[in-house]
Amino acid sequence: VTGAGRDHGGGVGKRLVLFGVGQVADLAHFLFTHDSPHEVVAFTVDGERLEASEHRGLPVLPFEELEREHPPDEVSMFIAMGYSRLNKVRAGKYDAAKARGYELVSYVSSASVTWPGAQIGDNCFIQDSIIQPFARLGNDIVMWSGGFVGPETVIGDHCFIASHVVISGNVTVGPNCFFGVNATLRDAITIGAECVIGAGALITKSTKPGSVYAGANGRLLDIASDRLPGL
Ligand SMILES: CC(C)(COP(=O)(O)OP(=O)(O)OC[C@H]1O[C@@H](n2cnc3c(N)ncnc32)[C@H](O)[C@@H]1OP(=O)(O)O)[C@@H](O)C(=O)NCCC(=O)NCCS
Repeated sequence: VTGAGRDHGGGVGKRLVLFGVGQVADLAHFLFTHDSPHEVVAFTVDGERLEASEHRGLPVLPFEELEREHPPDEVSMFIAMGYSRLNKVRAGKYDAAKARGYELVSYVSSASVTWPGAQIGDNCFIQDSIIQPFARLGNDIVMWSGGFVGPETVIGDHCFIASHVVISGNVTVGPNCFFGVNATLRDAITIGAECVIGAGALITKSTKPGSVYAGANGRLLDIASDRLPGL
């Protein structure tokens, strides 16, 4: 059993700047502070969105000028954002921070169950969930509470997995997918890139990229995932 203070970050505390000042950023600030070796030293947002110079008692700095105060050789970053535009807003900031040389760290809750050999990429945010041996999670994956990822399952970059989602073993999930609360996936299927799986949907067959499946029977809706009003 491993968690943030143990295998992720190698037990070495980093000075961290969080991108964002919304709900996810507040939760990340709390969890990194109380359940990781890292120290949050500042928040950052795009300059045009900077409204207050302080948040949660820490400075808020314009992202464009972050190097002035916190160059990449002195701090790591975590992009603390939700799933807007099928996670593409968060992915954009992830790419921008990486391109400027910032290391992105992951948070893995000490209340989660992971095993040596499970792979978890950078900028992941894994709350109290179960990740079974031989599962492989890419980069920039948000996984809320009470989730399950089975053995040999591979999850692509930039996905958002809400609470109590069960992703069985030998499943392949493409990048930029969204899973609503309590969604259930049977084993050995493929979820295409940019799919949206609605709350409580049961998915028993592979899905087409860019599609939406919703309702208890996981029905394919007649709307492309990038046309959904709520995502
Ligand atoms: C499927 C889902 C993603 C669609 O959400 P949305 O982007 O807000 O879109 P809407 O609810 O307006 O639905 C879009 C269309 O799909 C239809 N639709 C949505 N859910 C449906 C369902 N279960 N069965 C049939 N049609 C459905 C709507 O009627 C609407 O069609 P219309 O435009 O003709 O009226 C949403 O129902 C859902 O399950 N969200 C997950 C919630 C969640 O888990 N939140 C936790 C986040 S941490």
